[in-house]
Amino acid sequence: MDYYTLGRTGLRVSRLALGTMTFGDDWGWGADDSVSRQIFDAYVEAGGNFFDSADLYTNGRSEEMLGRFVADHGLRDKAVIATKFSYNGQPGNPNAGGNGRKNILRAVEGSLKRLGTDYIDLYFLHTWDRFTPAEEVMRTFDDLVRSGKVRHVGLSDVPAWYAARAQTIAEWRGYEPVSSLQLEYSLVERGIEDEYVDLGTRHGMGITVWSPLASGLLSGKYKPSQGDQAEGEGRLVTTAGSGNPAFEKLSERNWGIVAELEAVARELGRSMAQVAVNWVANRPGVSSVLVGATKPAQLQDNLGALDFDIPGELAARLDAASAVPKRFPYTFFGPELQGMLTGGATVGDKPAGFYPDQTVRGSGAGVGADVVE
Ligand SMILES: NC(=O)c1ccc[n+]([C@@H]2O[C@H](COP(=O)([O-])OP(=O)(O)OC[C@H]3O[C@@H](n4cnc5c(N)ncnc54)[C@H](OP(=O)(O)O)[C@@H]3O)[C@@H](O)[C@H]2O)c1
Repeated sequence: MDYYTLGRTGLRVSRLALGTMTFGDDWGWGADDSVSRQIFDAYVEAGGNFFDSADLYTNGRSEEMLGRFVADHGLRDKAVIATKFSYNGQPGNPNAGGNGRKNILRAVEGSLKRLGTDYIDLYFLHTWDRFTPAEEVMRTFDDLVRSGKVRHVGLSDVPAWYAARAQTIAEWRGYEPVSSLQLEYSLVERGIEDEYVDLGTRHGMGITVWSPLASGLLSGKYKPSQGDQAEGEGRLVTTAGSGNPAFEKLSERNWGIVAELEAVARELGRSMAQVAVNWVANRPGVSSVLVGATKPAQLQDNLGALDFDIPGELAARLDAASAVPKRFPYTFFGPELQGMLTGGATVGDKPAGFYPDQTVRGSGAGVGADVVE
């Protein structure tokens, strides 16, 4: 397992992180205690050190299991544990959710207790609550780092402008900076490419990718012939009609991407899951990919995702099948109009130092993701 340093920190994280949202079967699409332990063991055996949870995953069971497994292996020093706050588990109490100081300070105590630890390596705001000023979040994050309860901080599922503002506040006020952006990214969800990749690489936030398989769609277990009525086993079937945008993956457009992925995987002699994880892990700015599983065999499959390269011609086919049309103002930043700025002179398309030699790997990770062998 290779490690990248996360964002602009000295923290080394495995390029494949273990997502633990499926630890616990409370939501109807996870794994029980014993299977979760096997998944954890297989990940540790493969050399992984980076674990991701959240206070509300499987109603707190994910954190409890993760903490127990880490303790049973005596791994606390070695493990890099990420967890999150924002979602509310107390009906009727509006301050037991969101990103205000009162909730963050409440939530961190619960997570520490369930994880059975006295510090969290990477503490994420789980999602934007649309109201709390970035000043309040960043000051509270800084207090937590100074108190020793948290080592590094991150933002998940927030608008890019909010992350940029939060990072600027941290820089100018000397607060702990944001080290990671945790975002959905896969062959069927490329919405982060216009804003967040440049944001992360230029401003020291390594991207940790969630749902690299689009909740299982890209594993190949769902077939286009099943249309919107996919049947059988799997999260996308269990969660059908839930209204959660993370699970709305069965569409005409996505079936086209699945078909091309299947063809490319066949040519490479690899599983579709491995090709999909490999593709996203080698995108610019990506520090780590959170792989999730409900069965040990799935994890074993996914752990083999980084020991091959996708040749240029096949990568181009995946790119073409999954491309999203550029929107304004990004239509203005291509070579045609940018050439009008340089008077015809050839100018690199990235700022100096954007891709220092030592960070280039595969198709190139940016400053947010230095490789450490
Ligand atoms: N910040 C956020 O908002 C956010 C949101 C979502 C997730 N996350 C994090 O990201 C992690 C990963 O997300 P995810 O679970 O959605 O990732 P994913 O890779 O898109 O989906 C994982 C699911 O796909 C299926 N699968 C995985 N590997 C497979 C294989 N090789 N063959 C066949 N099926 C396979 C399994 O589900 P079935 O067996 O049910 O088909 C598995 O639970 C989570 O655990 C969590 O830590 C964060």
